[in-house]
Amino acid sequence: MQNLYPEITAQIYNELKDDLHHGKPADYIPELANINQHQLGIAIATADGKIYSAGQANVPFSIQSISKVFALTLAFQRMEKALWLRVRKEPSGNAFNSLVQLEYEKGIPRNPFINAGAIVITDVLCSRFVQPEFSVLQLVRKLAQNSEIDYNMKVAKSELLHAHRNLSIAHLIKSFGNLENDPSQVVKTYCTHCAIQMSCIDMAKAGLYLANHGCIPATKEYIIDDDSTKRLNAIMLTCGAYDAAGDLAYRIGWPLKTGVGGGILAIVPNMLSVCVWSPGLDELGNSYSGIRALEKLRLYTNLSVF
Ligand code: DON
Repeated sequence: MQNLYPEITAQIYNELKDDLHHGKPADYIPELANINQHQLGIAIATADGKIYSAGQANVPFSIQSISKVFALTLAFQRMEKALWLRVRKEPSGNAFNSLVQLEYEKGIPRNPFINAGAIVITDVLCSRFVQPEFSVLQLVRKLAQNSEIDYNMKVAKSELLHAHRNLSIAHLIKSFGNLENDPSQVVKTYCTHCAIQMSCIDMAKAGLYLANHGCIPATKEYIIDDDSTKRLNAIMLTCGAYDAAGDLAYRIGWPLKTGVGGGILAIVPNMLSVCVWSPGLDELGNSYSGIRALEKLRLYTNLSVF
């Protein structure tokens, strides 16, 4: 199968490259609004160190919510069981930035991937690291084996200037006693790790530990243990695309995490890590063409966790 990946990635790119007008880039973070949406990158990384890519797979994009996977990994390293007293692991069925459920459920977010949950996870990091956003960046650099990956501070500042919803979420959580640190400090840290930018190739490499029992294949370093890796993949499958999680489990069936920058990181456990990126978002805030690319990849490779 493996030697078909070059043909398959090229075929998917060719099938979609003239049809990238669907959806539109996120505009609630002004700095993300003006990107050319006629771009599509696809990169597959396999545990033997090979990369198969097509399209704009070398162009850095804003990883946004995909950073929540790396933030959760760091929190997992430090407090797996106690974490679940502060955030649940149920699909939310709501938009990623919704406030309503949080009020009903007394400040305990449904899962670590909706904004409310990621804000609690970021709070955990704020209590344990001197520079928590840098710890997330350092982890990403180590996973991708690329020390040049960085934040885009223009994107971080642009989001912070319009972070009224995330600040409301953080304050509401604080009012229920589920935030240890100052809400504005936590949201600043959160927006900064969301503003990390990297290419599909770097992201596919960064995700490989999730397809390899928690171990970075290139260095043989365990980031988290095999059991925690299985659990993280389970949360990605059930919660990684918010209110589209069921639809994407049906259409693609792989653990994945989407971001409003248009990226999607998907994992085929024990096989490969894949990143697709295309900035046009559907009405739920997930990459329209990225989802189509993953659907095609699933179909053409016939790889499944089921
Ligand atoms: O908090 C936000 O709204 C953004 N920093 C991240 C949201 C996001 O990527 C949702 N993913 N589809």
